[in-house]
Amino acid sequence: DEVADIRSSLLKWYDVNRRDLPWRRINEEDATDNDDDDEIDRKAYAVWVSEIMLQQTRVQTVISYFNRWMEKWPTVHHLAQASIEEVNEMWAGLGYYRRARFLLEGAKMVVEEGGKFPRSASDLLKVKGIGEYTAGAIASIAFKEAVPVVDGNVIRVIARLKTISANPKEKATIKNIWRLAGQLVDSHRPGDFNQAVMELGATLCTPSSPNCSSCPVSTQCSALLKSKHDQSALVTDY
Ligand code: ADE
Repeated sequence: DEVADIRSSLLKWYDVNRRDLPWRRINEEDATDNDDDDEIDRKAYAVWVSEIMLQQTRVQTVISYFNRWMEKWPTVHHLAQASIEEVNEMWAGLGYYRRARFLLEGAKMVVEEGGKFPRSASDLLKVKGIGEYTAGAIASIAFKEAVPVVDGNVIRVIARLKTISANPKEKATIKNIWRLAGQLVDSHRPGDFNQAVMELGATLCTPSSPNCSSCPVSTQCSALLKSKHDQSALVTDY
């Protein structure tokens, strides 16, 4: 069916085109113990730090900050021992220092509760500074929970696939896109699927001139189909 085709096309594309990023390597190199519980926490921590950094900062800039951060505080236990001054110093240049403070406060919370990350998106929401987006990213990528992740790139990709013309800045539209993303997410590889959609939005399905001829889901895209007789169908301002 259509949903199954979208899933397999996106995952196949991601397998070939995924960027080699340091947080993606954590717990993926050694296939023998990547279901080990401590390894899952290590992955959750890395995904958390990287996703918070990526929220306002480009991937190329985040890489070196992420590597320095993980060298200094390789686990949530290390981070929980840090001072706010050290954390701010490490963050210098990334901006929005509130994000760094939330990481420290969240780490202290996780450690106080036993040092294990809550194992579902809904429980992750209780951690300081973890919202819907970050909870979905950690749960799908580190725990393989079939929950969606919606950021600006995902909104654009799904709005085009389904030709949603409603204002994507409105709460109701965003809620609808979360719902659609939840129906689409692949239950066997939710983390890879979510990252494939984000990556597609960042690299091919860009706001002003999407590269549809290279897109793995162009034949399933209703905006591309519509654009054959309505040139404005692919135009977005978000
Ligand atoms: N942008 C933010 N997080 C991302 C991720 N995990 N993969 C691809 N793009 C992203």
